[in-house]
Amino acid sequence: MAAPNALAPDPFLTDEYFENPAAVLARVRDEDPVHLLPGFNAWIITRWDDVRRLFTDPNVTNDRRAYEHYSAPPEGSVARWIAENSPFAAPPDQHARMRRLVSAALTPRAVKRMESQVRAVVEEFARPLRDRDGVVDLYDEFTEPIPNTVIGRITGVPPKGDDELHWRQLGRDAVRGISPFLSAEERKRSEDSMAELCEYVRALAGERRKQPQEDLVSDLVLTHDENDQMSTDEIVLMVAGLVAAGTETTTIGGTHGLRTLLAHPDQMELLRGDGRLMPNAVDEILRFDFGSLGLPRYAIRDFELCGKTIRKGQILLLSFLGAHRDPAVFPDPDRFDIRRDTRDLAIFGHGPHYCLGVNLARTELACMFDAALSFLPPGAHVVEEQVRWERFAIFSRLASLPTALAR
Ligand code: HEM
Repeated sequence: MAAPNALAPDPFLTDEYFENPAAVLARVRDEDPVHLLPGFNAWIITRWDDVRRLFTDPNVTNDRRAYEHYSAPPEGSVARWIAENSPFAAPPDQHARMRRLVSAALTPRAVKRMESQVRAVVEEFARPLRDRDGVVDLYDEFTEPIPNTVIGRITGVPPKGDDELHWRQLGRDAVRGISPFLSAEERKRSEDSMAELCEYVRALAGERRKQPQEDLVSDLVLTHDENDQMSTDEIVLMVAGLVAAGTETTTIGGTHGLRTLLAHPDQMELLRGDGRLMPNAVDEILRFDFGSLGLPRYAIRDFELCGKTIRKGQILLLSFLGAHRDPAVFPDPDRFDIRRDTRDLAIFGHGPHYCLGVNLARTELACMFDAALSFLPPGAHVVEEQVRWERFAIFSRLASLPTALAR
């Protein structure tokens, strides 16, 4: 039997948790670092050491089909096809092969092209904001649309047309399907969108096989590695994976990051004064606040962790905020300091599944924050009373960023 919880009433089920998650996580980390959440049958992992170990622990998997409450999408649906064939949840040898092929496609020339696409997209969304005043929702107008547009451009969706607008809508709806807490109607819309997005990429791959261009789908079509090559199905699964992994994540980093910067005007001024601080600032921003999200792992056998018995099929949620505010690794962890040592950042994972888009994510965020410094006047601030939060189970993230651009 799992040991009973040391903490009652459960701290994650209190209002205090949503008001100040870092404080509650600090208490749980001290008193019950591997914590069973009643009602959800989920383990919350809050110490940096344990989070780091579980990224690569052979007792757990990232394949959600190992979850005791997994409910498979309907047979014949695209969601089912993705769940059963995703290269990111494939056995280690297939997974490693896919990563090798993608790395081979990321030539210095391709990376340079992507960086200039990122800069162009960020500038397109930043330009109109330089003339605005009053309250502007920087989530709607800046941090939400950019990552989807970037992935579309990189993939090969023609810029600035109807295709791009449609792609953005499809990406947004498709990614919502990742949440397990959706109405039947939302789930259907998400699955239909993912199906349409996959069809779009399939057609694009067909065109690029005949006539390659300067984009990721052409690179993937052309990439050979030791006589190995990606099939069209694999390319579709790859791009679907990039949309799923690389859009909401970057939006959360950008939205929470702007809020953090606006709440620390001294650090913002420091950054404004010395652009060389940007790479470290991006990592510190991600450490300090990425919402209160956790990365899931599923136990594939019974095992012991810090004196608790984890049962096969149970879910473990690796808390980024818990790990990033662990004083054993980050001294004075509640202080936001863009010059601190951020080498032990956990936000991009660790081991064989380490984020494939880490460079793109850092570039995107650096460009976003750099552009924001150009349109945020001194005195700009988030109108906290108007902020909307999205909550699911014990997680929360910003769903708007109303910002007063006082000029
Ligand atoms: C701030 C933004 C981002 C964060 C915080 C983030 C975080 C992560 C984390 C924690 C993992 C490991 C998942 C695991 O171990 O189960 C991961 C994997 C991955 N990320 Fe990112 N990511 C970000 C942006 C991106 C972007 C922009 C892309 C690409 C366009 C991307 C593509 C991927 C892919 C494909 C994987 C799966 C790798 C694998 O399983 O081998 N990510 N990311």
